[in-house]
Amino acid sequence: MRALPAVALCALLAACGTLTSMPTPSKSSTPMKDFTVIAHRGASGYLPEHTLEGAAMAHAMGADYIEQDVMLTRDGVLIVLHDLYLDAVTDVAERYPGRARPDGRHYAIDFTLDEIRRLRVHERTGADGEPAFAGRFPQESSIFHVPTLAEEIDLIQGLNRSTGRHVGLYIEPKAPAWHRGEGKDLMAAVLALLVDHGLNDADDKVLLQSFDFEALRRARDELGTELGLVQLIGENDWQESDTDFELLQTEAGLRDVARFAQGIGPWLPQVIQSKDDGSFGISDLTAMAQRLGLFVHAYTLRADQLPPALGSMPEAVRLLVEEVQLDGVFTDHPDQVIASLGAP
Ligand code: G3P
Ligand code: CA
Repeated sequence: MRALPAVALCALLAACGTLTSMPTPSKSSTPMKDFTVIAHRGASGYLPEHTLEGAAMAHAMGADYIEQDVMLTRDGVLIVLHDLYLDAVTDVAERYPGRARPDGRHYAIDFTLDEIRRLRVHERTGADGEPAFAGRFPQESSIFHVPTLAEEIDLIQGLNRSTGRHVGLYIEPKAPAWHRGEGKDLMAAVLALLVDHGLNDADDKVLLQSFDFEALRRARDELGTELGLVQLIGENDWQESDTDFELLQTEAGLRDVARFAQGIGPWLPQVIQSKDDGSFGISDLTAMAQRLGLFVHAYTLRADQLPPALGSMPEAVRLLVEEVQLDGVFTDHPDQVIASLGAP
């Protein structure tokens, strides 16, 4: 968490008058409104996503939280990976020919940890095999590997100790319902690993996020976690889960979320929309959620994919902080967001 420039702080303190609570632990311990910088899949603008190297870089850049998307291997080990399949970020197709499912993809859950450890991780590629983001870390220099969640927690806790900083974990168990269909209880596995690391209290700097409303509700009500929970909001046609994301953008839907969660994670275009004439519009989602005591962390701000109406990174950050009045943002470029927060 970090303090804002004075102008932004004044505007935000005015807005705070309508809030009932500031749910994240560090918010309750400071009188100042903060802006939370979440390193999306690590410092993924600079190093391949979800690598230990990228997580270490994000820590050094000063992110408040580092994000982990997680899933299970065939032998039940939690790994840090975004897609359910390995194709877009590893050399799995060359290393394990004949192991794809009928859709042509190599699913992580079909491989043991030992097999996954032999893969080389590279920058994300698109369906055409070309880098998804031109200008990011070169494919030919990729010497990275898929980490386990335990390894990444150990890294971040170790860096917290050696630097004296307190960077949090922001964990998304990916597709819990899909994992159940594969015979695995992903949410329970994540919570058990966190307990093993001494992490299960409301004031631990760990947030658990999911697109799946029912999975998040179960984590609180049935699995008994006390960690902060964040309901991600997507679009219904993404088929992320059975959750009705239209409903979640209404007051009734947000009230349901507020029964068990501390925050929401909307897609950026759900809170600020670029218009054809170059201007932008701001939805009432952020204010509505905050009135119900939910913090709002939107995803994903990328320096190399900024919506034109948001201008440069400093201008985009100013808009998100002062106009949209977000509580934080997921970003591939935590250093640039942090620098922008400190800009005069
Ligand atoms: O979890 C926040 C953001 O990461 C959601 O999108 O697809 O990158 O997991 P995704
Ligand atoms: Ca995520």
